[in-house]
Amino acid sequence: MSAGESLVGLEVEVEVGAVAHGGHCVARHEGRVVFVRHALPGELVLARVTEGSDGDRFVRADAVAVLRAAPGRVEVRCPVAGPGGCGGCDWQHASLPTQRDLKAAVVSEQLQRLAGLDVDVVVEAVPGDDDGLAWRTRVQLAVDGDGVPGLRRHRSHDVIPVSHCPIAHPGVDATGVTAAPWPGVRSVEVVVPSAAQEPALVVVVPTGRRPRLPSVRASVTLLDAEGTLERVSGRSWVREDVIAGDWRRGFRVSGSGFWQVHPGAAGALVGAVLDGLAPRPGEQVLDLYAGVGLFAAALAHRVGPDGAVLAVEGDPRAVRHARRNLHDLPGVGITQGRVDRVLGAMLADGLTADLVVLDPPRTGAGRRVVEQVCSLGARAVGYVACDPAALARDVGYAAQHGYRLASLRALDLFPMTHHVECVAVLVPTGE
Ligand SMILES: C[S@@+](CC[C@H](N)C(=O)[O-])C[C@H]1O[C@@H](n2cnc3c(N)ncnc32)[C@H](O)[C@@H]1O
Repeated sequence: MSAGESLVGLEVEVEVGAVAHGGHCVARHEGRVVFVRHALPGELVLARVTEGSDGDRFVRADAVAVLRAAPGRVEVRCPVAGPGGCGGCDWQHASLPTQRDLKAAVVSEQLQRLAGLDVDVVVEAVPGDDDGLAWRTRVQLAVDGDGVPGLRRHRSHDVIPVSHCPIAHPGVDATGVTAAPWPGVRSVEVVVPSAAQEPALVVVVPTGRRPRLPSVRASVTLLDAEGTLERVSGRSWVREDVIAGDWRRGFRVSGSGFWQVHPGAAGALVGAVLDGLAPRPGEQVLDLYAGVGLFAAALAHRVGPDGAVLAVEGDPRAVRHARRNLHDLPGVGITQGRVDRVLGAMLADGLTADLVVLDPPRTGAGRRVVEQVCSLGARAVGYVACDPAALARDVGYAAQHGYRLASLRALDLFPMTHHVECVAVLVPTGE
């Protein structure tokens, strides 16, 4: 075989090793690393190469036959969850306890590799989630050239027609969206709110086009490639009700805006943040990357009328909802802007905070924001992270600026997928 020649389609027998970040396991074949999907550590599988050429450092492969199964293996629940299928679920072939062990291993490995820390990680189920199915309240359906909705094939733009997704909330099917034709549409996002309210669809269309839409049981908003929203019917926002212990509150969120997708996620995260930081009456708190104000509201409740919470968020639409969601809470301020710029201005004015919560997007906060957060003099920082690699990198930066990891909780907010949410609490080194 000559260097550079494609290996796609080649089938090799491999012993599957440890899990790696991204929903696959590591195997080796003739000295080359093979990232194998649809396998479990300890298995012997026939792996078919899906990406890679001779001379590459690693190739990707799917386990197309299991020659020796690991004890955690189970039957998949979805006809398109296997090799060559949908990219949404990575671990349907593993029992839920096995999935959580795999995610725990990934979080531990990232913290060891990127922050030099040995941490025993346990991934906790969302209370009440017994089977890891029917939880996804936001589903993005791609639409093919014939207007048929479906889900994307793994690492591909192909659309696999899907009439029912077992991890989707039953409210998704109830809209009739998967049965309807969507000619001229790019994608349809279905949002099923936790409040007793009609679901909302965000229909993404090419700029300047207004295709004829099918009739569905949901509010409909059009979104074009330039981000312009146009309401077609019903509301362009949904209401999400959150319960954490004895605290409960409703939030308005735009159909296209950020909200956690598991119905139990927001409450579980609020609980983890409040437990980790133990806010006290009168404290000054910063909620960075605040979205529509979830943590700001819960923190304001704890610090009371003598305390203050400043929420910082970049997206103007989320800020508009946050202003409405938080308007009745005394001592809560909202600043629209980039976190690094707002913190830069605060630090220049000599401002400090007792507590900081940060919940950045997947890429994490990054070196500059971590350094700024560590300069605020907070007694504790709660870092909510959806990517363990970005979290571990940022925990490493924090250590260089006087903060150490005091505790870490990992929550299984995305069963069947490789995703895992962490809440890390950082405190000044020496405390
Ligand atoms: C993971 S979401 C968290 C939202 C909120 N904490 C929640 O739980 O609902 C991240 C948020 O950060 C915002 N964001 C992303 N980059 C930002 C930046 N550089 N400055 C300010 N906000 C940003 C996004 O608009 C989004 O609302």
